[in-house]
Amino acid sequence: MAQVQYDCSTGNHPNITNSTASPVGHEQIQLLLQVCKEAKKSAYCPYSRFPVGAALLTCDGKIFSGCNVENACYPLGICAERTAIQKAVSEGYVNFRAMAIASNTEEDFIVPCGACRQVMREFNRDWDIYMTKPDGTYIVKTLQELLPLSFGPEDLKKF
Ligand code: THU
Repeated sequence: MAQVQYDCSTGNHPNITNSTASPVGHEQIQLLLQVCKEAKKSAYCPYSRFPVGAALLTCDGKIFSGCNVENACYPLGICAERTAIQKAVSEGYVNFRAMAIASNTEEDFIVPCGACRQVMREFNRDWDIYMTKPDGTYIVKTLQELLPLSFGPEDLKKF
């Protein structure tokens, strides 16, 4: 599929008032849903047995996948969302348009933990998080909705 460019400039977002950002198209959403489901298969989660997969769409239209990677020293485990973000940043991508997340929970949409929301927020507030169920249904919220009144890089420049 041809790579799509997204307008990711601050303040320009379809779910935010006065926004003119490019919406994520249906095909691209379906691809994100597929990639996060596939990434879940690589989850290393022998302790929780709770596999999670993530698919991160950059503003350049590139997709990075991630899964949770646990450790015998429990606090060192990392979530799928942060794995995807670290893969992207380490390859030079820091502008993000959307992320989709998958787990095996049938009853509820998988939601990102607080730590992941803060890590997402480091790279802007104006992107979409698709929270899925295994049956392919999803809910979508902006990061701003998931983490209102957040602290970020701009706050360090205020004094
Ligand atoms: N986990 C994620 O990877 N993402 C989430 O959104 C929620 C939780 C992981 C962390 C841990 O490996 C396992 O799921 C159980 O909490």
